[in-house]
Amino acid sequence: MQSHIVIIVAAGSGSRYGSDLPKQFHNLCGRPVLAHTIDAFRSALPDARILLVLSPAMVPVWRQMCADNLIESPEIVSGGKTRWESVGNAIQALGDEAASAIVLVHDGARPLVTADVIKRAAACARNTDGAIPAIPVTDSLRRLDSDEVSSEPVDRSVFRAVQTPQAFSLWRLRDAYTLPYDSSFTDDASVLAAAGYSNVVLVEGSPENIKITTPVDMLLAEAILQARPQQ
Ligand code: C5P
Repeated sequence: MQSHIVIIVAAGSGSRYGSDLPKQFHNLCGRPVLAHTIDAFRSALPDARILLVLSPAMVPVWRQMCADNLIESPEIVSGGKTRWESVGNAIQALGDEAASAIVLVHDGARPLVTADVIKRAAACARNTDGAIPAIPVTDSLRRLDSDEVSSEPVDRSVFRAVQTPQAFSLWRLRDAYTLPYDSSFTDDASVLAAAGYSNVVLVEGSPENIKITTPVDMLLAEAILQARPQQ
């Protein structure tokens, strides 16, 4: 029985990156993006059980990368067609873990997550319905009208950009994931909200915790990693 469980979802195709190889398998400063993501959790929560969700087609590619880079792979779970299905498969694979265990669900494509953010989310989830790391929005924002051409300014101070890991007790996450799929489920907090858990709170995220989505993000990730003190 573990008090922390980490689900790293990495079964997406990464179509916005414009490459046949999904971005989570690309090289970032000498190691696959996913290896950095896994390292961040192993170092912040050394006792956590980690599940890595991959599309079945990418499992042999990942196993080869592990052999080539001396990476010890976490347990692998098969992903689904949507992020929601991928998280659901991981929850099913957990077996009889303690209901009170804290589950942190993280996007594999966020390799630069810091120990501070991981620990803050895990701690906050112990006495709330869940925790979401978030940061202020720095760009000005506009809301598109229904014609999707005209637009109007909105007050950015009332918005936050949401990150992962999002953390919840296992029993709440399990309960919320019994709901049928809805296209509004873009992250886990949206699933919890639909299930009626209203005390999901924001914790401070990090501007370094970027989600690699386009090649520009990879350049930024390289620069951030190179500026960090060597371990
Ligand atoms: O598409 P998006 O960037 O929102 O995906 C967020 C995370 O969910 C990524 O790490 C991606 O690999 C993962 N994902 C998944 N299974 C899917 C779709 C996305 O594990 N079917």
